[in-house]
Amino acid sequence: MRAVIHDRYGPPDVLRIADVKRPEPKEGEVLVKVHFSTVTRSDTGLRSAEYAFTRVITGLVRPKQKIAGTELSGVVEAVGADVTQFHVGDEVFGIKSGANAEYVCVLESGLLAPKPSGMTLTEAAAIADGGLLALTCMKPAYPLEGKTVLVYGAAGSIGTAAVQLLVHHIQTNVTAVCDTNDVELVRSLGATEVIDRLREDFTRTGTTYDVIFDAVGKHSFRRCRHSLKPGGIYVTADLGFLYHVPLLSIATRFIGNKRARLGIGTYRKADLLLLKELVEAGKYRAVIDRSYPLDDVVEASRYVETGQKTGNVVLEVSPHGP
Ligand SMILES: NC(=O)c1ccc[n+]([C@@H]2O[C@H](COP(=O)([O-])OP(=O)(O)OC[C@H]3O[C@@H](n4cnc5c(N)ncnc54)[C@H](OP(=O)(O)O)[C@@H]3O)[C@@H](O)[C@H]2O)c1
Repeated sequence: MRAVIHDRYGPPDVLRIADVKRPEPKEGEVLVKVHFSTVTRSDTGLRSAEYAFTRVITGLVRPKQKIAGTELSGVVEAVGADVTQFHVGDEVFGIKSGANAEYVCVLESGLLAPKPSGMTLTEAAAIADGGLLALTCMKPAYPLEGKTVLVYGAAGSIGTAAVQLLVHHIQTNVTAVCDTNDVELVRSLGATEVIDRLREDFTRTGTTYDVIFDAVGKHSFRRCRHSLKPGGIYVTADLGFLYHVPLLSIATRFIGNKRARLGIGTYRKADLLLLKELVEAGKYRAVIDRSYPLDDVVEASRYVETGQKTGNVVLEVSPHGP
C-alpha cells in the first residue's frame, strides 16, 4: 500500500511516499481503507521535533512511528477475530497514528467510530483532532457552564472546534478573536461576539472574562491577565509554553486571584462519540481550509507549518471510493 513515510526528523521534505506492507487485522482489530486523512499541527510538530522533549516519546534519534498522520475517515475493509461492533463496508472516522496511508488497523476499542450520518467522508476526516483536543485542553477551566469565555486563535483547528463546543454543547457566551478574513466564518460557528484582532486589541477594550482560552499560544498570561475577572483563568494550548506555564500555574495558586494553566490535549473515545452525536444534531461541523492529494503531502505540510491555516487541511488518500 502507499503511505507517507517520515524516517527522520526535519522539514516537510523529509516526507516521502513509499510502498509498504499492508497491515493485517489481528484479534480485536479493524482494517480500515483510508479515504481521507489530514495534516495537523501535531503531525508537523512531531515530524520536525519542534519541541525536543517529544523525542522522548517519538524516538530519540529517529521517529519510531515511520508512517505519518493521525486523523482518518474511510471504510472497513476487514475485521479481526472477536470484532463485533464494526462490519465490512461500514463508514468510519477516528484517530490512529500512521493514518497517512491507504490502510490502517485500529483496535475496535480504540479511537474509531461510525461516521456521523449526514456528513461526507472528507468532512469526517477533519473533525476528530481539533474537537478532541479542544475538549481536553479546556479542561483546567471546567466547569464552563454560565461563564464568559474568550477564545483567542478562534480560526485554527482547535479554535474552531472550541467555539462550536462552547456555544452549542457547553452553552456559554463566547467572544472569539481571529483576523479579518475569518470573522464571518467564526461568527457562523456561533460566537456571540467576534473581535478582529487586526483592528482591535481585546486587552484594551476594558471587557473582562471568566476564562481566556488561547487556542494558538500567541497571547501570554501576562498580556491577558487584566482581561480576566477576579478568579478568572487563562488556559493556553501551546506546548511551547511548557517551559514556563507550569511554573506560572504554581505561582498563580499562591499569588493574586487569577490563574494560568497549560491545556494538555488527549484523545478519548467518549469524546469521539460525543462529536458524532453533535454533528448528527447539527451542533458541530467540519471546517476545511484546503485539500491536497496524497502525492502533495510535502506541500500540505509546508502550508500547515505556516500556522495560518483556517480549520483543517485534508489529505486525499483514496478519494474515489472503494
Ligand atoms: N496542548 C496540546 O496538547 C496540543 C496538542 C496539539 C497541538 N497543540 C498546539 O495547539 C496550537 C493550535 O493548534 P491548531 O492546529 O489549532 O493551530 P492552527 O490550526 O495551525 O492555527 C492556525 C490559526 O492560528 C491563528 N494565528 C496565527 N498566527 C496568529 C497570531 N500571531 N495571533 C493570533 N492568532 C494567530 C490564525 O488565525 P487568524 O489569523 O484568523 O487569527 C490561524 O487560523 C498549536 O500551537 C499546536 O502546536 C497543542
